[in-house]
Amino acid sequence: MKNLFNLETEIAVVTGALGKLGPVWIEALLNAGASVCALDLAGARVSEDFSRLQGRFEETRLKLYRTDVRSRQSLEDVCRSCLADFGVPTILVNNAGIDSPPSKAAKAEGLEEIPFELNREIFEVNTLGLFQVAQVFGARMVAAGRGSIINIGSLYAGVSPDQSFYDHIPGFLKPPAYGASKAAVINLTRYLATHWAPHGVRVNALSPGGVLGGQDEDFKRKFCNRVPLGRMATSEDLYGPLLFLASQASAYVTGTELLVDGGFTAW
Ligand SMILES: NC(=O)c1ccc[n+]([C@@H]2O[C@H](COP(=O)([O-])OP(=O)(O)OC[C@H]3O[C@@H](n4cnc5c(N)ncnc54)[C@H](O)[C@@H]3O)[C@@H](O)[C@H]2O)c1
Repeated sequence: MKNLFNLETEIAVVTGALGKLGPVWIEALLNAGASVCALDLAGARVSEDFSRLQGRFEETRLKLYRTDVRSRQSLEDVCRSCLADFGVPTILVNNAGIDSPPSKAAKAEGLEEIPFELNREIFEVNTLGLFQVAQVFGARMVAAGRGSIINIGSLYAGVSPDQSFYDHIPGFLKPPAYGASKAAVINLTRYLATHWAPHGVRVNALSPGGVLGGQDEDFKRKFCNRVPLGRMATSEDLYGPLLFLASQASAYVTGTELLVDGGFTAW
């Protein structure tokens, strides 16, 4: 049974590697035996969590590459480097995404005034960028005849954010384009899954609920009251679902959305 989740022969690509969840996915993959090509923007700072992993694993297991999911050319270049360094990727965690965190949105415009540009930026990274990463790395998987793609969605792909979670932050409005961009990711997941199933490539979405880390106490109290399991997700809560979708444990699972939300959407 242990072998079901063994990734020792696998080569994984993870986008958004230097953010909050990137190192969580990467740690799970490394601990299960995979080698990891970690992708992030040229300007993104190497986070403490990521450098801790670099301290634990040699560059033959974990290597950082700079790219922008919005640029086809930069993705093609990085894909060639990953192939040369590690071989054909067999797992892709399509994780890079942008949102508008409460701390940064104190002067948010009202719903009617949200600038077109803000919406465009969110869709460009979260939906079109994710699709482009799948095109570039998915093509190699299709040619090789196997692979597992995990698109990171969100609780808000399926439901609207409850704005009362944020009403202690004057003027803050959770950007509507965020959930819409993630809803599109779920549909793209189904499209890619059906298209690539005959080529041995599975495509699923993993949608986390709120993950603990840096939120203020008011938000946490309101959010947790709304979660049947009564708490936010921790990193440990995310390892199992990711490894399930990445490994042979989910060999007959494709085109699905795995919600890891503590039951939030169950009522
Ligand atoms: N943190 C949560 O509670 C939560 C909950 C549900 C879903 N998610 C989703 O999980 C994913 C990761 O979230 P996070 O909290 O780690 O976010 P984060 O902001 O901490 O990290 C995102 C990473 O993506 C990178 N990135 C942004 N634009 C990019 C681009 N154009 N090209 C390449 N890289 C780019 C950033 O540099 C950053 O390192 C996102 O897709 C997010 O929507 C997060």
